Amino acid sequence: TPAWIFVNCRLVLGKIRCFGFDMDYTLAAYKSPAYEALVFELLLECLVCIGYPRDILRYTYDPAFPTRLVFDVLYGNLLKVDTHGNVRLGTHGFTFLSEAEIWSFYPSKFVQRDNLQRFHILNTLFNLPEIYLCACLVDFFSGCSRYTNCDTGYQHGNLFMSFRSLFQDVSDAMDNVHQSGCLKEKTLEDLDKYMEKDVRITILLGEMKEVGKVFLATNSSYNYTDAIMTYLFGISEAEGSARPWRSYFDLIVVDTQKPCFFAEGTVLRQVNRDSGKLRVGTYMGPHQHCVVYSGGSSDMVCELLGVQGKDILYIGDHIFGDILKSKKWQDWRTCLVVPELFRELGIWDQEKEWMEELKRLNMHLADLYQHMDGSSYGLQVINSTKREIQILHESAVEQERVNQHPLSCPVFYSLRSCLRKSRSSPPT
Ligand code: IMP
Ligand code: MG
Repeated sequence: TPAWIFVNCRLVLGKIRCFGFDMDYTLAAYKSPAYEALVFELLLECLVCIGYPRDILRYTYDPAFPTRLVFDVLYGNLLKVDTHGNVRLGTHGFTFLSEAEIWSFYPSKFVQRDNLQRFHILNTLFNLPEIYLCACLVDFFSGCSRYTNCDTGYQHGNLFMSFRSLFQDVSDAMDNVHQSGCLKEKTLEDLDKYMEKDVRITILLGEMKEVGKVFLATNSSYNYTDAIMTYLFGISEAEGSARPWRSYFDLIVVDTQKPCFFAEGTVLRQVNRDSGKLRVGTYMGPHQHCVVYSGGSSDMVCELLGVQGKDILYIGDHIFGDILKSKKWQDWRTCLVVPELFRELGIWDQEKEWMEELKRLNMHLADLYQHMDGSSYGLQVINSTKREIQILHESAVEQERVNQHPLSCPVFYSLRSCLRKSRSSPPT
């Protein structure tokens, strides 16, 4: 059901006095894959502009490609890495790395995720087209006869293109697409195509405002925020009288520069709502309802609204910029928007029987180990249970391979981890 909310700690909603929202991919849900396909096209054009071969324009965005990955700029691999740094799966372009390849690239199948010079974490929704583009470029250059494949990149005459420089170009193109305004312009040209409009937003915010304060803190600029929010909160005449979107918030802050916003922040300025320009000087006065602010910091939000960190529930889509930093540095309560969970829970539900069977077999295995007496009969039962788990795993993997891309499938991981547990058990 789409109405589920998951918690990983106790959250007493009754104690929340203030609700904060991020905008992009939170209040403003971009239509997938139309929006990512647009970003992908703009990225390709950007790369061609800086000298990449026009042949790359033949790639089109594939929404079934894995999400939330790490790019290893040394070897050009995209990796699915768990919280502890264990490499679960990997691809080079569109080719899956074999178990042996993973072991040879990554001893112990482990990577130091905090080595940010080498491992770039691509775990936000804005990263979706970027991830796919990395795979496309590796696929393109690996298969192009003009380039020689090397361990850490490609050789073309006396030119060497490392995976690191390739990733840098993709990142720069991404910044350019966002900062030049071309993406925003195209989005605003056809909002029906790129934005999900949900009339329940106004109901939710209206109800939140009855029990506490509501604010918006977005990294987007005022002009873009205004255009998007006007669209989202605009109700057709048939549905009732439209209320200005700003009236749903007690405080609006744009250009927040999260995560820096949750630490030292930047200068707090007032926005001229007619021109979108910033007023000169730092804003020092008390909070005024009709004012839109730019920059500032989370401390200023608390001060202007008269609340403390633990009174706030902040809702965002960016694990690092919205959630981790607001929680760790400011003790805000946080809520992460994870759209793909909807699909993934469907898969869990669909595969419930397999999951139950795996759980049963694992419990059985644990029980057998606990009472292992070294007899040959005991060892036989253990081996046959492990074999059963393996067969179950293999048929699930096969089924997933037929149905979809395995890197994005949670069932695949859980089955693999069950299998790994059984493999890493004491030798029999
Ligand atoms: P928020 O999610 O509402 O805080 O705002 C996200 C803003 O960050 C949007 O204006 C995006 O255009 C911008 N953005 C997202 N990813 C990138 C990037 O990789 N480089 C530069 N800007 C980005
Ligand atoms: Mg966001």
